Amino acid sequence: MTTLDKVVGGAPARIEGRDKVTGAARYASEYPVPDAVYAWPVQSTIVRGRVRAVRATAALALPGVIAVLDNRNVSRLRPVQDAELAVLQSADVSYRGQIVAAVVANTLEQAREAASAVRVVYEGEEGYDVVLDPGDPRILSPRKANAGFEGTVDWGDVEGALASAPVGVDAVYTTSTEHASPMEPHATIAFWEGENLTLYNADQAPWMSATAIAELFGLPENAVNIVADHVGGGFGSKAVPRPPTVLAALAARAVRRPVKVAMTRQQMFALVSYRTPTVQRVRLGAERDGTLTAVWHDALQQSSKLVEYTEQTVAASRMMYATPNSHTAHRLLRLDVPTPSWMRAPGEAPGMFALESAMDELAYALGMDPVQLRIVNEPPADPESGLPFSSRNLVACLREGAARFGWAGRDPTPGVREEGRKLVGTGVASSTYPVFTMASTAAAYAEPTGRFVVEIAAVDIGTGARTALTQVAADELGVPMDRVTVRVGRSVFGPAPFAGGSMGTSSWSWAVSKACRALVKELDERAGVVPPEGLGVRADTTEDLAAWKHFSRHSFGAQFAEVTVDVDSGQVRVERLLGVFAAGRIINARTARSQFLGGMTMGISMALHEALEMDPRFGDFVNHDLAGYHIAANADVRGIEAHWIDEQDDELNPVGAKGIGEVGIVGTAAAIANAVFHATGFRQRDLPITLDRVR
Ligand code: MOS
Repeated sequence: MTTLDKVVGGAPARIEGRDKVTGAARYASEYPVPDAVYAWPVQSTIVRGRVRAVRATAALALPGVIAVLDNRNVSRLRPVQDAELAVLQSADVSYRGQIVAAVVANTLEQAREAASAVRVVYEGEEGYDVVLDPGDPRILSPRKANAGFEGTVDWGDVEGALASAPVGVDAVYTTSTEHASPMEPHATIAFWEGENLTLYNADQAPWMSATAIAELFGLPENAVNIVADHVGGGFGSKAVPRPPTVLAALAARAVRRPVKVAMTRQQMFALVSYRTPTVQRVRLGAERDGTLTAVWHDALQQSSKLVEYTEQTVAASRMMYATPNSHTAHRLLRLDVPTPSWMRAPGEAPGMFALESAMDELAYALGMDPVQLRIVNEPPADPESGLPFSSRNLVACLREGAARFGWAGRDPTPGVREEGRKLVGTGVASSTYPVFTMASTAAAYAEPTGRFVVEIAAVDIGTGARTALTQVAADELGVPMDRVTVRVGRSVFGPAPFAGGSMGTSSWSWAVSKACRALVKELDERAGVVPPEGLGVRADTTEDLAAWKHFSRHSFGAQFAEVTVDVDSGQVRVERLLGVFAAGRIINARTARSQFLGGMTMGISMALHEALEMDPRFGDFVNHDLAGYHIAANADVRGIEAHWIDEQDDELNPVGAKGIGEVGIVGTAAAIANAVFHATGFRQRDLPITLDRVR
């Protein structure tokens, strides 16, 4: 090893930055594939029922049209758990916008025109349900929620504790349907060579998606080759295959040509998942000194008729604060709608809006500072499991955030700070996100030239993962970063988890670190001599994970917001947002800061703007484009700062990283809603806080 400065913990610029800003970086739909043709989906205009006939004659007569596909002329797929992937496998229609046919043509424009000429004859059913109604008798209590969380968890005597608590809160909070809408729309180019399928795919999970598509088509695992060298965001929407990818593969097989499918913004709203709306009730009981005696949190959310997806909305309420009595439950209503799925911090983002708003209400009921209320309820161990935390620095985040923000001496009185025609207020909320980890493989090669190559089926969706992994490899190999090439984005590099659940970089870095260490050892044994054909080693962290000691592992953070509320228009502006996070070792300060700021910006968006509106008459999302569905833009983000504390956690992985993709969005909306209350005196329990809701 050399005496080189370590680069983990530094702030190198992202390796592909120049390629991205100059357009040299290729996204899925941009690969030049000879003879490629285009598929355009025909989406259902009914909510529930059956396709009786697809009349293709007019479409087939149009120029350039190669085929019209429907449920009678595409390959049969294997039944898999995600029934959304059964594209064109039956005549049944489960939601408006579902793919019921597709046109393949020589050009994108020809396919689009012909798709509008396809006549679909439906047998529609009346009486569909598309709105989450808390009074619906068909609401279920699922046994399990997403990511392995329990549906319902109880301890102690929560009703007794609530009844006898001297101070309490009981309130209902709602969050809106949201759509991830990443910068790069979903796109796929599919082509078959015999029984081998290659997909250039907008994908958060090259290897996992390849495995899932292979299963769907009944192919051997290594028969599907996914390429995702550059991906323009995903936020969960690209974390598993979605119907458009399946359509591309089916169409390519049907016409025996490479097929491109590139989603428009409008098409994406029904076809690539969304965040469930929630109706949450939180009841808290406390002693007069602020000590919690009861936490009760119930979350109602929706799923489709196709898939039972229960978001883990109340999971954070099980580990956030110490309480001897607790009831946390998910409830689900299955509707005639597209299937909701993961969107940045699924569960924690909406769930912590409710819990952290209720904590603010409790602080007011107690006449206690909301930062102090959180500090006095700090648990010594995980309240649900009893396991020790591998590290837990929520209190440090709250203290440092309060100092940086200038919280001390805050007058809690609501509605009294005026600046001209604006009211001013500040608010705080905690943040958290679990540390998930999955086993990964990686390979490291030494070349006779003195260069090193690492290959791993990781993917950089804009987070800086490629750069972070290059830093990890360089440090382990003891060479500068420019002597290492880390190749990502290809399923052929072998088993590796997805860029999701904030676990990508931390899980991958474990395998990269292990492979590089093994390579260094191998080189040492050969006295540093690299054979002419090069030297390579593979590593797999499956056994390391099996031997992992049990701890409760989570990231934490504290969010502080200052808002102004226009007295005449009701407009809320977030003048300052300041987050302090504790997420283990920060590998790259530059890209990490971007991740935190991106999450916090999405939190501003959740608080003030994002709401996908369902029209119950048509069963469709009304504002299904970026004109009607507002996402926070630069003008919505004024002062924003992200900081982190140096957190050493030896119970994680060789790099000591926890994961930072999602913790930044959690708690933001509550901090803002709490600030709006402080400004105006009116509690905001429903997101987004649009002008009409502010009084
Ligand atoms: Mo993230 S919502 O787990 O891709």
